[in-house]
Amino acid sequence: MSPTVLITGASKGIGLAAAESILADGAKVIALQRTVTPALEALSAKYPGALTIVKGDHRTFSSSAKDVSSAIALADTLDGVVLNAALNLPYGAIATIPLDGYRGIFEVNLFSVVQFLQLALPKLRNAKGKVILVSSAAGEYGMKGIGAYAASKAALTQLNRTLAVEESDITSIAFNPGSVRTEFAASVEREGKGHVDPALVDPFISSLIEPDIPGRGIRNLVLRAGVDYTGKYLSYDDPLVTSL
Ligand SMILES: NC(=O)c1ccc[n+]([C@@H]2O[C@H](COP(=O)([O-])OP(=O)(O)OC[C@H]3O[C@@H](n4cnc5c(N)ncnc54)[C@H](OP(=O)(O)O)[C@@H]3O)[C@@H](O)[C@H]2O)c1
Repeated sequence: MSPTVLITGASKGIGLAAAESILADGAKVIALQRTVTPALEALSAKYPGALTIVKGDHRTFSSSAKDVSSAIALADTLDGVVLNAALNLPYGAIATIPLDGYRGIFEVNLFSVVQFLQLALPKLRNAKGKVILVSSAAGEYGMKGIGAYAASKAALTQLNRTLAVEESDITSIAFNPGSVRTEFAASVEREGKGHVDPALVDPFISSLIEPDIPGRGIRNLVLRAGVDYTGKYLSYDDPLVTSL
């Protein structure tokens, strides 16, 4: 039977590319995001019956718990989840960023992920499934003006380590997709101006890779990684990812 993978944030960017790569491998995908884009609809037409689109939010409000639960309920067996949806706005220094900005980013990038896992773990344990947490190199360094996002990703990478030791029936991996040409990357250049250090933005923008590269990395991990991968934080170009 084909494996089933649930992806958050598959309307565009890395999530969309990962969904396409997983579908091309013969697996089934359930995609949860707020917007149903023409690109996602085109993917559904290309893989009839294999892609299920759920329009919804995955923040930790009660209505979004319903969206997440409905998406999980669609899978008879849940072989993998790719927790990819994230928010990077607002930018700003610790000295000036409104506290609600920090809260909003942690809400989407961390608390919603914990809520999602709480709802999905029973099915994931049954299937001995995999969890891919899409993190970022931003969580590894001090970066001026993008600290809320960076802190949320550092916390996500740490969440992965905890999940790996607490849940022996699943394989959990944190994934760094690299610098990728997406709407998210465009916003670093646009809204990040005046906040994020130009010494960081310029090399980031000039070294962007296309989303299909991390998309394939996510596919490799969610469909092929062994149990020995659990707890690892891996970049898209790591041989442990590309060789699978
Ligand atoms: N691009 C890069 O250079 C880069 C670098 C490092 C890490 N990353 C990480 O890679 C992941 C994907 O980023 P991307 O570059 O592909 O960004 P993107 O093109 O902006 O896509 C973000 C996706 O998340 C969804 N999303 C956002 N908030 C959501 C919510 N509350 N509920 C459901 N879905 C939501 C968006 O769909 P809707 O708006 O339709 O909901 C969209 O599908 C993120 O975790 C990001 O932190 C990206």
